[in-house]
Amino acid sequence: MPRRAWLFCLCAVSSTACSCLCCFSPLLWAREPDVLSLPAVVAPTKVLIVPLSVRAEFDLLVKEVSLRLRKAGVHARVDDSNTSIGKRYARNDELGTLFGVTLDFASVQNRTMTLRERDTMDQRIGSIDDVIATVTELVLGGIDWAEACQRLPAYDRVQAVD
Ligand SMILES: *[C@@H]1O[C@H](CO)[C@@H](O)[C@H](O)[C@H]1NC(C)=O
Ligand SMILES: *[C@@H]1O[C@H](CO)[C@@H](O)[C@H](O)[C@H]1NC(C)=O
Repeated sequence: MPRRAWLFCLCAVSSTACSCLCCFSPLLWAREPDVLSLPAVVAPTKVLIVPLSVRAEFDLLVKEVSLRLRKAGVHARVDDSNTSIGKRYARNDELGTLFGVTLDFASVQNRTMTLRERDTMDQRIGSIDDVIATVTELVLGGIDWAEACQRLPAYDRVQAVD
């Protein structure tokens, strides 16, 4: 039986038990999995994180970027499937993911990251810090892509592969 239903049963049995449980219920809720601390409306993915490959070099950066986006309140997802970056972007364009960030060897060496916008397929580059700040504002702060482009220079090369 779900914990919530269990509480209601006990509450029905005794009002003393109920007030007791009400005091302790925050503790009970807190022990449930994360689901209960999520907002009621779960936002769809706004940012796709695309490491160049599944190589270990990218792992730490992928974790760092995911964590920082999550802390900023931006719903992100990692696509580290073993296909080309182009194919991963194409698949996620169909799912409606607005922005993609790519981690490549330049990310490892120089802490840069590229940012791609779905509708224009335009790519920009900046430091990981600047790209995180910019994409956070794009998703939550109401700046538009034109403003983002003023902050981050265009990226017209292919991703650094080694
Ligand atoms: C990724 O795919 C390539 C060929 O498409 C294959 O050679 C390689 O072993 C795959 N790597 C992993 C980790 O599955
Ligand atoms: C890192 O930056 C240096 C200096 O700008 C550049 O020469 C190098 O190619 C960059 N690394 C990668 C992997 O792009």
